[in-house]
Amino acid sequence: MAMGLLKIARMGHPVLLQETDAIEMPVSENVRRLAADMVETMHDAMGVGLAAPQVHQALRMFVYHVPAERNLGMGIAPRIMINPEIVPDGEGIMECEEGCLSIPGLRGLVPRYSRVRYHAAGLDGEIIAGIAEGFHANVLQHEFDHLNGILYPMRMTDFSRLGFVEELRRYPWERRA
Ligand code: NI
Repeated sequence: MAMGLLKIARMGHPVLLQETDAIEMPVSENVRRLAADMVETMHDAMGVGLAAPQVHQALRMFVYHVPAERNLGMGIAPRIMINPEIVPDGEGIMECEEGCLSIPGLRGLVPRYSRVRYHAAGLDGEIIAGIAEGFHANVLQHEFDHLNGILYPMRMTDFSRLGFVEELRRYPWERRA
């Protein structure tokens, strides 16, 4: 099976704001190939998640992984989430510093639920479900938003907390007055 890197749509491209279609199960060979290419593209771009609309496919699927160092030493190997549902578990809110492969060079602080329940199908129809907290919950909410045409700046409540990566490295939020 040929694999390939996919072109990533950038903010401003209408596909990122589009409604997405549910994926029929069992998945087609095309969806299987798309999922493999999305994992490869995510790794190549050094991202932690990538949603189908970001590679110009208006479908309800995203891939993600959680590096061990961002999740108390418990990494999550790349997962393919088909027709996912993410719902808040409780009312706790956390502030997350987010970036997005479709918005290169920028990061912003985004309010997210601190705990969510997730449910999705894997490529072979297996159920992927659980409760996520912290960074894992953050990634799931960010990627799920992509399936509903929502980019992280659309979730921000304070635009003074949007900045370029290089400047944030020089002047981290926590060291500002
Ligand atoms: Ni994104």
